[in-house]
Amino acid sequence: MKIVVACDRNWGIGFEGDLLVHIRGDLKRFQAITTNNIVVYGRKSLATFPAAQPLKNRLNLILTTDKDFSAPPALIVHNLPELLALLQELKLQFAEKTIYIIGGASVYEQLLPYCDEILLTEIDTEFTADSYFPDLTGSENWHRSNIGPWQEEKGLRYRYINYEHIRKLTIRRLVLSDVSQLAKLGLIGLPTTAKQLRSLFRIWNQADGGSLLYSILDRGDVIGLVRAVQPVLNSDLVCLSWQTPHSLTQSDCESIIDQVLNINPEFYRLEVISEQELVNSEKVSAILGTRCGQHFPAHCKTLFRPDRTGLATAFIPFRSFGYLVLKALATEDKVVGISFWRTDEILTDSDLLSAAEHLGLADNNGRPIILNADQTIYAGELNRDYLIQAGNDLLNYLSGNVASPSIQYELLHSTKFQRRVWQEIMAIPYGSTATYEQIAARVVPATENHQNYARAVGNACAANPLPLIIPCHRVIGKDSNLVGFSGGVDIKDYLLNLEMENAQKLLRPINE
Ligand SMILES: NC(=O)c1ccc[n+]([C@@H]2O[C@H](COP(=O)([O-])OP(=O)(O)OC[C@H]3O[C@@H](n4cnc5c(N)ncnc54)[C@H](OP(=O)(O)O)[C@@H]3O)[C@@H](O)[C@H]2O)c1
Repeated sequence: MKIVVACDRNWGIGFEGDLLVHIRGDLKRFQAITTNNIVVYGRKSLATFPAAQPLKNRLNLILTTDKDFSAPPALIVHNLPELLALLQELKLQFAEKTIYIIGGASVYEQLLPYCDEILLTEIDTEFTADSYFPDLTGSENWHRSNIGPWQEEKGLRYRYINYEHIRKLTIRRLVLSDVSQLAKLGLIGLPTTAKQLRSLFRIWNQADGGSLLYSILDRGDVIGLVRAVQPVLNSDLVCLSWQTPHSLTQSDCESIIDQVLNINPEFYRLEVISEQELVNSEKVSAILGTRCGQHFPAHCKTLFRPDRTGLATAFIPFRSFGYLVLKALATEDKVVGISFWRTDEILTDSDLLSAAEHLGLADNNGRPIILNADQTIYAGELNRDYLIQAGNDLLNYLSGNVASPSIQYELLHSTKFQRRVWQEIMAIPYGSTATYEQIAARVVPATENHQNYARAVGNACAANPLPLIIPCHRVIGKDSNLVGFSGGVDIKDYLLNLEMENAQKLLRPINE
């Protein structure tokens, strides 16, 4: 929401109901800026327009206390809360249109705090005036962001200056005394009495997952409401939305998000719902309540805390078996886990489940939705580029193009014995196998009976966090039985066959 105004050197804007001066160049610019947009003005300013009629090719909103007043096709509003509520609705209904406050003095004064920008024409002279714009000289709320060159028309110098609203936003956990101020803001879809608002907030608090409610304050005044909801219980996903009749800049919005994150260090993944979405509260509850990421509309923005040690996740379709799940560190290019999510398997790891839901890969029961997109890597936003690179390395291995995926990895939790076993397994050549006992013989001292350690080797294989990188599918029973594999024996069989088919090609000496 922006103000358009022409002021003389003393912030004068009008005299005896009329403009101070008519500058053709400036009026042309006014028309160009406001055409096809929304204009808001007071009843007295209407009298200064051509034939005292609403402006053409614009949606006109006129403020008056006169209930019988009409000026078709303009919309008439009778008080400030009514205007603010209507403006919030229009903002959502006509997202592409800008709202311009175009005067006069009383309307500028009332709506100035709600605007994010002033497009001011400074006329370099002093007129006799009786209507003034608020004096912004030295204002800490408004900073000049752009000053155009002086122009001249009929000996009158004028220039365009943009002012940007500098807010000092803070948020705090909602306190009872804020509710009455929130009620006055006419937040759309919400009741306008403090009593009804309080009971609604109580219901929100008691709902599954609970809502965290914060007030947005600008230099101490309550100007809006923030709501944080965990739509999937125990997941790391939090949906964040806010409502205010004030026009906020991008940096104001970022400040709200930052402060929510600062207050809640445990919030890791935020789905920020743009204000637009709040028009339809049914839709909002659908978004907040959904378990399936496919319903998240495109204008939701996912934010991760870069400073929290989180895991980045990707899902790679793996033939008819289901998905390969790849976990990497959030802030370092290292894979820390590979697992299999089979078509009939329910994901029980809540982090993985919410990541899969977010990508639209999990059904309502936590089973994979298989999308027919071989070679596609579905990665979240966190460390996405690396996940795609590592995923492609795995796909290269699975296509029989390389003997081992060249992926940087880190073993997060492991014992010394497990690491010894995995080291030996990594030494088994591509296309070959070794038995559990053979591996045991390589890792236990000669003085020990290695046969007693075959089961321990099996356990270390089962605990392998990085199948395919640590190729435990190459470890088999002593009578050539495949025995077991974390992803299932059929996958083990598939991998061994893949390696046998490609071993000759891949292990051929380079000079051949
Ligand atoms: N330089 C510029 O850029 C520029 C731009 C526009 C206007 N102007 C000048 O500004 C002067 C007019 O300013 P103004 O302050 O006298 O008049 P105004 O703001 O144009 O209109 C005031 C009228 O608007 C209605 N109104 C205002 N706030 C309201 C509210 N909260 N609820 C209900 N109705 C409300 C009232 O109408 P009712 O009395 O009918 O209830 C009030 O008398 C003129 O000289 C004009 O030329 C200059």
